[in-house]
Amino acid sequence: MRLLAISDLHLASAVNREALAALPPHPEDWLILAGDVAERLDRIDEALALLTDRFARVILVPGNHDLWTSSNGGPRGLARYQAVIDLARFHGVVTPEDPYLDWPGRCPPGVDRLVLVPMFLLYDYSFRPADVGLADVIAWAEETHNVCGDEIHLSAEPFDSRVAWCHARLAETEQRLDKELPEGAATVLINHWPLRRDLVRIPRVPRFTPWCGTLRSADWHRRFRAHAVVSGHLHTRRTDWIDGTRFEEVSLGYPRQWDHARGMEGYLREILPG
Ligand SMILES: [Fe+2]
Ligand SMILES: [Fe+2]
Repeated sequence: MRLLAISDLHLASAVNREALAALPPHPEDWLILAGDVAERLDRIDEALALLTDRFARVILVPGNHDLWTSSNGGPRGLARYQAVIDLARFHGVVTPEDPYLDWPGRCPPGVDRLVLVPMFLLYDYSFRPADVGLADVIAWAEETHNVCGDEIHLSAEPFDSRVAWCHARLAETEQRLDKELPEGAATVLINHWPLRRDLVRIPRVPRFTPWCGTLRSADWHRRFRAHAVVSGHLHTRRTDWIDGTRFEEVSLGYPRQWDHARGMEGYLREILPG
């Protein structure tokens, strides 16, 4: 029994949908799906149906693309988030709105108990350089054509802004972690966006950083005793070690960003036992 992870399936692409369909069954394993499954709810629905059929358990944290409002309308902002959560629940998929999960499999050496923590923290533009004001972020990113599509497609309703939504999520999640984490348990923290700015290395789109996370979660791996932290969003697969914590960026990405010969299977990252 293993805990595997992947993110950024971006199923708008037929190539990625075919790769998902070809994924072999893993009846013993659990799967973390770390966001950006698809922009269309029917595609998210299909993916969750398929993955819950092939894995013993699936954990989903929504990404920005999962929350985009389509040009044909549909729920916006928080209502759209809730629509994704409802879909997940229909399929028995665990989300940031559910109780944290005890890992029933083998723990890594030195760890007695591991709790899996799906989160939805968004971003607040605080990864921008110190000399760029919040009001100037869009213009600054526009100079190099790095403005995130969220500015058009990701509504924050009923919050005043995505910054306000992000800060509400941070407060709520911190409170839950303080209250609900069993004493002494280690964690696997799971979030679509990376928890720290130093994990963001995107030289091809350097001014995309403001849409990549929040400085306020920089010490969460220490505060909440993370054995591992899983994220996606950057489409730059890598493993980093900070303060003895393993940070896994597990994106698949757009078809040009992965090797089709390896299949999607080749991109499932083992988180536990690790
Ligand atoms: Fe993505
Ligand atoms: Fe993303």
